[in-house]
Amino acid sequence: MAVNLKGRSFLTLLDFTPEEIRYMLDLAHDLKAKKRAGICGNMLKGKNIVLLFEKTSTRTRCAFEVAAHDEGAHVTFLDSGSSQMGKKESLEDTAKVLGRFFDGIEYRGFDQEVVEKLAQHSGVPVWNGLTDVDHPTQILADMLTIEEHISKPLNKVKVVFCGDVRNNMAYAWMYGCAKMGMHFVGFGPDKLIKGIEKKVLNEVNEVAKETGAVIELSSKPGCLAGADVLYSDIWASMGEEDQIPERVKLLTPFRITEETLAATNNPDVIFLHCLPSFHDFETTMAKTQMDLGYDIREVTDEVFRSKHSKVFDEAENRMHTIKAVMVATIG
Ligand code: CP
Ligand code: NVA
Repeated sequence: MAVNLKGRSFLTLLDFTPEEIRYMLDLAHDLKAKKRAGICGNMLKGKNIVLLFEKTSTRTRCAFEVAAHDEGAHVTFLDSGSSQMGKKESLEDTAKVLGRFFDGIEYRGFDQEVVEKLAQHSGVPVWNGLTDVDHPTQILADMLTIEEHISKPLNKVKVVFCGDVRNNMAYAWMYGCAKMGMHFVGFGPDKLIKGIEKKVLNEVNEVAKETGAVIELSSKPGCLAGADVLYSDIWASMGEEDQIPERVKLLTPFRITEETLAATNNPDVIFLHCLPSFHDFETTMAKTQMDLGYDIREVTDEVFRSKHSKVFDEAENRMHTIKAVMVATIG
């Protein structure tokens, strides 16, 4: 049956079939090739979209804005300080108002329930630009990057996510791997493995039964063998900065180094990271924390800058995949 995603919200990959995810990836490959060939301009012509950001962003905001402009849409940006949402106006009323003005709504913030409520009450597609428990547009970009650099179908690819295995990126990866029949390993300390919500594990294991995905969690470096992709994320996500001391203690053995690359026994292994990344001391946060005695680097500069690292292709792919999501749902 032909895939039709018109009018659908994009809240989590769990809401989509493998065929629908395949469709968005194929569309993204196609839109990327077209942009390279100078062909773009009207797939979102006459559409208005609004971007709501309650957390900061570089890539996600720019990806939505550039993708929208490329295809002729108009963009309104609202951050948490510049709208009435939640303070003087309920989420439900805000959603109803925005649904009268806009063809699509992007939301980045804390609770997944907020993005769900916006979708429930606005009557237009809502796109999840990151919550505390998911980051689905990032996974589409990561899969596109994997397909560009690894000559195997996704269901033969092993991804090892190193570090904070209970954060939004780890959950999003588990959902994505489960849906696409991939091999996922969450490599992190037992304490954080124990912190993964049971509901998440139950959901991904149910999906995996149907797709043949393998979802594993391990604190033992042996799990790195045969990895095609090593993935990392910062150790304290937005809103968790007070947990840096404990995280550094727990996660230092899980920093991606040249030894981690070697432990995969795969000379072609690629390194991916959603970014932003602490890989040196060129940021105020990395410097300030180092002065306090905390080395917050989740990956070494050598690995980040190595030939294995495809992180800037991955960052570019945020734009092509977000464009695909918008074109598929409101185009
Ligand atoms: N990867 C990602 O979502 O980056 P931003 O926080 O800059 O949007
Ligand atoms: N886990 C990170 C992802 C940033 C893209 C955070 O939520 O801050």
